[in-house]
Amino acid sequence: MGSLAGKIALVTGASRGIGRGVAQKLAQEGALVAVHFRENESAAGETLGAIRDSGGRAFGIRAELGAPDGVETLYDRFDAGVARHGMDPGLDVLVNNAGVSGSARIDEVTPELFDRIFGVNTKSLVFLTQQALKRMRDGGRIINISSAATRIAYPESLVYSMSKGAVDTFTLALAKEVGARAITVNSVRPGFVETDMNAGKRRTGEAAADLASWSVFNRLGQPSDVADIVAFLASESSRWVTGQCIDASGGSRL
Ligand SMILES: NC(=O)c1ccc[n+]([C@@H]2O[C@H](COP(=O)([O-])OP(=O)(O)OC[C@H]3O[C@@H](n4cnc5c(N)ncnc54)[C@H](OP(=O)(O)O)[C@@H]3O)[C@@H](O)[C@H]2O)c1
Repeated sequence: MGSLAGKIALVTGASRGIGRGVAQKLAQEGALVAVHFRENESAAGETLGAIRDSGGRAFGIRAELGAPDGVETLYDRFDAGVARHGMDPGLDVLVNNAGVSGSARIDEVTPELFDRIFGVNTKSLVFLTQQALKRMRDGGRIINISSAATRIAYPESLVYSMSKGAVDTFTLALAKEVGARAITVNSVRPGFVETDMNAGKRRTGEAAADLASWSVFNRLGQPSDVADIVAFLASESSRWVTGQCIDASGGSRL
């Protein structure tokens, strides 16, 4: 039996990339997984298909974070999906993974870019977690996907880096707030992972090799590299770790 048998997990942004890897891993560990996405129904379908083909249980939830009713829509669909699967209402593991990037140095930043990035990466994450806590059982897990850009200066994506710095601060404060319920809160900081998010930055072999060279292992991260760490933080084995930001960047720029 997997480490998450009988548990319910919600993974935001699970149609593609890191979120897909996380959803697959948590389902493999036995959780019923809510696969959230914004609009890419076919990609979400691929995640759901892969989980079901391996004997796991999952359902899809479409909701646009950053839209006025995004969080409300998400939970209406989440609660309905849990009921459809015959499980008691509630939540055990929340993985705040959905995010948007945006390359802009200080002289290129606009108020629109700032609001878009903070709206999804930071503001939605706070209100999504607020509602999650109303459903979460004692001993639950909250895992926020941050970025190594909070440790490594990356002026090329200034606002993106700031939005993840706020997530790390949220992680620290919230861990103290919910400790009495034995809920842990941690963030995971990936480096460059081979997903759609940075496809534009590795169009040539030379550019891809440059990104790979950030890691001491001289390769790009894969979603499974991050998913394995998330699965540990979601499990009972991580019960004594909270309020931490775990680097998952293959030792980038050590
Ligand atoms: N890739 C990297 O190198 C890297 C490095 C450090 C940190 N991260 C962080 O890791 C997380 C996942 O990144 P990724 O590379 O896997 O991203 P990705 O491949 O671009 O996938 C993004 C996911 O988020 C969803 N999403 C995007 N905007 C949304 C919105 N407004 N509302 C709801 N869902 C939305 C997308 O749904 P649709 O498919 O429907 O569009 C998709 O499922 C992000 O928080 C990112 O900042 C990534």
